[in-house]
Amino acid sequence: GVDMRKLRGMTGAISYDPGYGSTGSCKSEITFIDGEKGILRYRGYPLEQLAEGVSFEEVMYLMIWGKLPNQAELDGFNAKLAEHAELPEGIVAVLDNLPKNAHPMTVMQTLVATLGDYYEPADEETDIIRLLAKSKALAAYSYRKQTGKEYLKPSKGASFAGDFAHMTFGTSDEYKVSDVLEASLDSLFILHADHEQNCSTSTARMIGSAQASLYASISGAIGALSGPLHGGANQKVIEMLENIRAEGRSLEDHIELVKDKSSDVKLMGFGHRVYKNFDPRARILKKSADELFADLGVEDPALDLAKELEKVALEDEYFVKRRLYPNVDFYSGTIYRALGIPTNMFTVMFVLGRLPGWIAQWKEMRDDADQRIHRPRQIYIGENERNVTPISER
Ligand code: ACO
Repeated sequence: GVDMRKLRGMTGAISYDPGYGSTGSCKSEITFIDGEKGILRYRGYPLEQLAEGVSFEEVMYLMIWGKLPNQAELDGFNAKLAEHAELPEGIVAVLDNLPKNAHPMTVMQTLVATLGDYYEPADEETDIIRLLAKSKALAAYSYRKQTGKEYLKPSKGASFAGDFAHMTFGTSDEYKVSDVLEASLDSLFILHADHEQNCSTSTARMIGSAQASLYASISGAIGALSGPLHGGANQKVIEMLENIRAEGRSLEDHIELVKDKSSDVKLMGFGHRVYKNFDPRARILKKSADELFADLGVEDPALDLAKELEKVALEDEYFVKRRLYPNVDFYSGTIYRALGIPTNMFTVMFVLGRLPGWIAQWKEMRDDADQRIHRPRQIYIGENERNVTPISER
């Protein structure tokens, strides 16, 4: 019932909330989180049901258009994704001209920023489909570039996850993606599809609030996600496991190091700002990790170490008292590794999963009549007025 427009002209007290921990920046119908109870729902549907029962394409549709598609709607959506899947030649040339060692996240951000420039200005839905449809080739090509392999064309009729895996790891057009790989990626993408007003999503809304294009807004979100405090944590988990092994440290010694506050070492992949009992995404991933490792017969000392570390930590008073549990990144890193995805591609995987969430939030913002350009205030703590002195007197 509050008429937000009436409050707009009001000035006066400004709340100081660094990091916006207590500031609601928008109204949203997309994602609900209850951190105490470990609940995460997209558009009202529990994550667990979505992860079990629907495809990533259905989740994309749900996120952006607000309802689970019926078969005809899903078929129509898939047909449009297939129609728009190929990259324009010009963008492949841009890719080729980026430095060989360009980080895949830089590649993604750059190519998404310029993607719209290959086309005449289009309506919102075309832009959305275009970006979703081409994102899997962009991600796959960012990997092929660093490995120096030829680029494979998207396949019509393949699932989003399957086509991405094919273009990423395929050796020829006939390469068959294993069911395990396809299903694991599909489920990982669903688990990452949205997490309300996190840093990258807020960035997409911030840029979009200036009526910048979808491409500009999502490119900015990718930049935000590349930060180690945000999308980069899954990579840090693997690096931690590798360091423990390389230094020949025992798990007990590592835990002691973590508990010693002067060491500045954290148990990566543990703890969460919002989830204090468990991270529902981590719970789902743990189950799929176990199934996957058994299925693939994966033998990787780093993965064994992760499991042992989890066991030791969960029984330790330090973690129990502080309510520190494994978060989504603890398991996603180990799963990506088991699937053979290189460490510097982990955050790109996050991009593919999060894309529908960013787009849905961007669209919701544009459709909201109360929305205006994002423009936080500040508490000025600089000098009072003073006079300029000639340079010789400074
Ligand atoms: N290892 C060791 N101690 C920890 C950890 C950890 N991973 N996480 C929190 N603690 C300790 C803190 O030192 C603090 O101890 P104190 O009460 O003795 O001072 C206590 O637990 C409370 O922690 P806060 O720092 O207040 O928790 P906050 O909500 O600010 O931080 C965060 C959450 C950033 C996720 C933190 O737990 C962390 O750094 N974890 C490791 C990094 C990580 O895995 N990040 C991914 C998060 S999930 C995602 O982004 C998708």
